[in-house]
Amino acid sequence: MDLAEQPILFMDGHPEMERTPVSTEPYVSVDYFEKERENIFRRTWINVARESDVAEPNDYLVREVQIARTSVLIVRGKDNIVRAFHNMCSHRGNPVAWDERGKCRGTFTCQFHGWVYNTQGELVYIADADRFFGIDPTKNGLTPIHCDVWQGFIFVNFAEQPSETLADYMAPITARVAGYPFADYSKTYCYKADEAVNWKTLVEAQLEGWHLPTLHAKTLAKSATNIGKRFTHSALDCLGPHGFVSTFPPDVFNPSPVTAISGRYGVGTFDAFAVDKEEGSEDHKLNGAFDLYHVFPNLYIGLLNGTYFTYNIWPIAVDRTIWEITGYFPAAQNAGQLFAQQVGSIAFRDTLREDGFTHERICSVMSSGAKKHLHLQDEELAIRNFMNNVNAYVAA
Ligand code: FES
Ligand SMILES: [Fe+2]
Repeated sequence: MDLAEQPILFMDGHPEMERTPVSTEPYVSVDYFEKERENIFRRTWINVARESDVAEPNDYLVREVQIARTSVLIVRGKDNIVRAFHNMCSHRGNPVAWDERGKCRGTFTCQFHGWVYNTQGELVYIADADRFFGIDPTKNGLTPIHCDVWQGFIFVNFAEQPSETLADYMAPITARVAGYPFADYSKTYCYKADEAVNWKTLVEAQLEGWHLPTLHAKTLAKSATNIGKRFTHSALDCLGPHGFVSTFPPDVFNPSPVTAISGRYGVGTFDAFAVDKEEGSEDHKLNGAFDLYHVFPNLYIGLLNGTYFTYNIWPIAVDRTIWEITGYFPAAQNAGQLFAQQVGSIAFRDTLREDGFTHERICSVMSSGAKKHLHLQDEELAIRNFMNNVNAYVAA
């Protein structure tokens, strides 16, 4: 077929976007990675938790955010406000909270020499204060980090002064998810993969559904019988720096026997993929079988009917990334629903392993220098948008 005659569907809406191959340099360059650290991860809004992770006053959570070279303490105060601080004592730098999560008694006591901070970050006690040389406690509280909440997702921003509010940053997505019942679902399963891969390869692998019938032929595509046909997304969009991908429900849903049985009792994951958008909740309709939002730079929110999942993608080094996968369901009302959710989480894990394996294979050859460029097709539009935004931030 004459490639020039190939119908261009999604890129038609983006005449400004180039069609050229893209460089492999940003996936292997340590220099580039350091610029991403400074210009992306220390400037944009980064999701670190759900509000439900710190549901009550005095609940706290610690996040080691290596890409920002810090430990973040997220705590809900007595006034019910969620705040974030660098987890670092003003005396000589010891992290004031050592546990990954917990409930404090309204204060954090540094375990090195006993300075005490309240949940608003104020320094309320200096051990042996009379032997210091004029320390002003009002100027030596925990160092705050900008923190705000969107749809129950807690975000932080490490910039001294963020260039935009979280509400403005998320505005391209906000109206689209309005009515989705985030608050009705709670954390049900969590996977963490430590992958030998550049973080952008991991992000980009989720920014298209085109690979479903090939890479996931053994897991997802067994149910989603689109093999042999030209794969087309039901929706694809660039939402400012963010991305949006949606896929059609499969023509024929042919689940594994266990998934089929569990689907009789409740919603798992693959049966949710197979549901038609028309069957969505009254308040919120999906654009396809599932709607996947990429929140620049490192968060995904995948919406299905009856469950949603998130990916938090944490760069550690140019060739190392932590991938956190979290699944949310309504509280199971009986053993059958619990069974469906557990089967759903296991089936989903198997699909994600196919992804993870591929990411590492890509990384293992990327630095060979054999290829200077990669190619993107029309339905990889959201990847191109992501790369353009990474490049723009890095160059800023
Ligand atoms: S380092 Fe915290 S009290 Fe000394
Ligand atoms: Fe995949």
